[in-house]
Amino acid sequence: MKRALIHAALASPAVLLALGWQYGRLGVDPQKTLIWETGIWTINLLILVVLMPSAARWAHWPAVIGCRRAVGLWAFVYASTHFLFFVTFLLGWDIMRLGSEIVERPYVLVGFNAWLILLAMAVTSTRGWVRRLGRRWRRLHTLVYVALVLAVVHYGLMIRSDWGWPVAYASVVLLLVGLRVFRRGAPAPESAKRREMGLR
Ligand code: HEM
Repeated sequence: MKRALIHAALASPAVLLALGWQYGRLGVDPQKTLIWETGIWTINLLILVVLMPSAARWAHWPAVIGCRRAVGLWAFVYASTHFLFFVTFLLGWDIMRLGSEIVERPYVLVGFNAWLILLAMAVTSTRGWVRRLGRRWRRLHTLVYVALVLAVVHYGLMIRSDWGWPVAYASVVLLLVGLRVFRRGAPAPESAKRREMGLR
C-alpha cells in the first residue's frame, strides 16, 4: 500500500501531462512542453534522490531511504520519456540525425551522457547487481552527482534568455555537490553505522 502511494505520487506529473495533452492544455507548442516538463521532472527527482539521505538523517526517519530506489527509477523513466519525445517530436525517428545532433550540439551530447549514467544506474539497481558489484556498486551510484551536474549544464547550455530557473537549479546542485565533497572530506564518527543503514 505504502509502495503504491509512493509510485502514484511519482507518476502524478506524468499523469497531469498526459491529461494536459489529451485536453489541449499544454500551450501553443504541446510537444515542446512535453519535452521541457519531462526534462524538468528528471532534474527535480534527481535532486530529491540526492537529498533523501540527509533528510532521513535530519528527520531521524531511516525509512525514507527505502523510497530512494523508486525515486531514482522514476527519474530514469522521466529522462527516458524526455529522450523519446526528443527523438519522436524533434527528429521524427530519423536515427541518423540523432547521431549528428549528439555530435554537433553540445547540449544534446551532455544530456545524452546524463541519460547514459541514469541507464547504468537503473540497470544495476537490482539486488543481484548490488551483490555482484559489491563496493563498486556504491561508487557507480555516486555518479548520480555527475548526472545531476550534466543535467544542469544541459539545461544551461540551451537557454538564450530567461536565466532565472537554470541559475536557480545550478545553485541548488552546486550546493549539493559541495556538501557531498565536504562530507567526504570529514566523515562523521558514526559513519560506519550510517552506512549500514544505507544513509551514506
Ligand atoms: C538526465 C537526462 C536529461 C535531463 C535531466 C534533461 C533535462 C532537460 C531540461 C531541464 C530541459 C529544458 C526544459 C526547459 O527549457 O524548461 C531540456 C531540454 C531539452 N533536452 Fe534534455 N535532459 C536530459 C537528457 C536529454 C537527452 C538524452 C536528449 C537528447 C538526446 C535531450 C534533449 C533535449 C532537447 C532537444 C531539449 C530542448 C527542447 C527545445 O527547447 O527545443 N535531453 N532537457
